[in-house]
Amino acid sequence: MGEASVGLEKLFNPESVAIIGASTIKDSIGYDIVHNLKLSNYRGDIYPINPKYETVLGDKCYPSIGDLPYPPDLTVIAVPAAIVNKVIEEACEHGARMFVIISSGFGEVGRHDLENELRAILKRHGARALGPNVFGIYSASAEMNATFGPPNVKPGNVGLISQSGALGVALMGKSVTENIGLSAVISIGNEADITEREALAYLGNDERTHVIFIYMEGCKDGRHFMELAAEVSKRKPIIIIKSGSSARGALAAASHTGSLAGSDKVFGAAIKQAGALRADSLDDAFAWIRILADMPLPAQEGTVILTNGGGVGVIATDSAEKYGVPLLDNPNLLEEVFRPSMPQYGSTKNPIDITGQGRTEQYGISLEAALKEESIPSVVGLYCTQATMDVSAFAATVANVVEKWKGSKPLAFSLIGGIGVDEAIKLLNDHSIPCFDSPDLAMSAMGALYERWRWLNTDFGSPEEFDIDMAAVHDIIENSQNRGLTQLVESDCAEILRLTGLDFPETRVARNLSEALGMAGEIGYPVVLKILSPDIIHKTEFGCVRLDLEDEHELTVAYESIMAEVRRRMPRARIYGVSVTEMVTDAMETIIGFSVDQSFGPILMFGMGGIYVEVLKDVSFRVAPISRLESMRMVKDIASYPILAGARGKEMRDMNAIIDAISRLSYLAMRTKDILELDINPLMVLGKGKGCKVVDSRITIKSKTKLRKG
Ligand code: COA
Repeated sequence: MGEASVGLEKLFNPESVAIIGASTIKDSIGYDIVHNLKLSNYRGDIYPINPKYETVLGDKCYPSIGDLPYPPDLTVIAVPAAIVNKVIEEACEHGARMFVIISSGFGEVGRHDLENELRAILKRHGARALGPNVFGIYSASAEMNATFGPPNVKPGNVGLISQSGALGVALMGKSVTENIGLSAVISIGNEADITEREALAYLGNDERTHVIFIYMEGCKDGRHFMELAAEVSKRKPIIIIKSGSSARGALAAASHTGSLAGSDKVFGAAIKQAGALRADSLDDAFAWIRILADMPLPAQEGTVILTNGGGVGVIATDSAEKYGVPLLDNPNLLEEVFRPSMPQYGSTKNPIDITGQGRTEQYGISLEAALKEESIPSVVGLYCTQATMDVSAFAATVANVVEKWKGSKPLAFSLIGGIGVDEAIKLLNDHSIPCFDSPDLAMSAMGALYERWRWLNTDFGSPEEFDIDMAAVHDIIENSQNRGLTQLVESDCAEILRLTGLDFPETRVARNLSEALGMAGEIGYPVVLKILSPDIIHKTEFGCVRLDLEDEHELTVAYESIMAEVRRRMPRARIYGVSVTEMVTDAMETIIGFSVDQSFGPILMFGMGGIYVEVLKDVSFRVAPISRLESMRMVKDIASYPILAGARGKEMRDMNAIIDAISRLSYLAMRTKDILELDINPLMVLGKGKGCKVVDSRITIKSKTKLRKG
């Protein structure tokens, strides 16, 4: 279901705009907004309002909103914060219902009282507002630039949403210098009323908008934002730049899962799941905008690099790997397609290199051959200055060839060199052929196209249902909460995981040494011996866990030394006996779990255990719930996946068992509100078909007091 965007029509397509605080003072905000409105050819009526003036920029100026012939569709407010609410109240009384509040001085400086009062006024009158603390709104459909940003915005098909005022204005400016046309610019500000999600929903439904670019600083309601982004991404690409990778006031993490799931990583995983493309730099973002706005998606994997220089070809090849661009590897086809246009020393191996010997005509013929050939899904064209090729002739040739085969497949170009290169890049961009000043950017753009194509072609499946006794799970949690615990004791963790359907090494409880010896004989050596005491939480640190006991003698020594240690360090601890457990051998340590993110809700984590998690932090995340298909992709995401898959002749691990464990935790995570973090570390994964076993786990729950408060 799409987010309701009903009611925003007048924000984007008003038939009249009033500006309260309009001014004749050049470079003041009240002046710039009227000035931009007039310059942008806005077709509706413009009503400057300020009791000081008769006219503003040649238009009649009204003393107050009550003096207008009729209520304006949109009212821009540019007066000091202290009088904004009074002015809005008055405007509402005169029938105004849609506002853009430029004024700063509300929640962002701690004046939540003013912002709450503003919300109440809007609610009382059924009015809506963008802001406060915004730089305005631009809408190409109304040819309306009601911002104090740059005046000469080019209308086009890119919708821009910005949480930052200053950067939003800068991005508008960059779109002008980059000659990128905008369909809308929405400055989000404090979101006292209209939210970023509503803006996204609007642009998602706006036919004029083909690409959405969002600059974010924080994500308040991540889960809903993500759901909406996933829905919109099916129709059009969303590019996001998010600043601030430091941890937001996240929950204090008691587990690996919690601490590794830093807010930025969670955000990255969530928007990737939603199909949005996250750019790390403005250069990347603008490159992606260009290619996504102008190029079709590829029909399949496979890119051909066409170059006139080996060096740039090598750089592009490296970049291809970095950005996940699959290079077409079909030597026979490439030889057949490109040999006819190759100079003597040219190469038909991808990168296709016509070398410094090659002439512009040969490049043109090669490019045309690439565009004509259906088995070549996409092309990255490179040029570096050579004595034999004039850059402006090169650009003209490329533009001609591409025009002939327009829309056949995605293309990106990179031109590097000296004089004339900037103009040539501009010429190609003006012909809607994405062209950049580095091979890396061209490849990054192609990578974005492939990322989107893959997401659109991904089957996400449906989360599996499991028959888990949730009432029993909740009983365990509630009992612990009643005892004032926030960490479940080991046996309760194990019980919850057993109820969830996870497997454990065979284990027995012995009250004394002779029982322990008997049980170890039945289980089979090697075994693990562990103290059973509700008073000893950190058992390993207390020397109360002994691993890999090979025979009766080792078991006896271990038992006696554990008991001696307890008598020495915690003489009053209650001892229920020991557990004797099968020692899991020939298994690989992994870690799985989930933690609840404040913004995105339950986040699943999977990674390799041991040093992989401690040092390499080789883990992957997904926002729950996920299907088995997505669980598999989550496992494949980690860098050390080949080890699990049986690299170098090692036995392949039991993937099905891992996927089953992740899917079950996904189900559990979505059905308990009281588990904050759950960590299975390690989950020992045996060979194919042999399952996986929980060796240690930790579960953090909400405390009862928090429950009462919340
Ligand atoms: N009706 C109409 N006009 C009124 C008015 C009223 N009730 N009360 C004041 N005005 C006029 C003033 O006469 C003035 O026009 P003038 O400069 O031609 O005399 C204009 O409104 C602005 O008032 P001023 O007293 O000059 O306020 P200001 O210097 O505080 O500027 C803002 C107003 C809104 C620009 C300023 O308060 C502000 O918030 N600036 C930050 C904006 C910003 O950065 N937003 C976020 C961007 S992301």
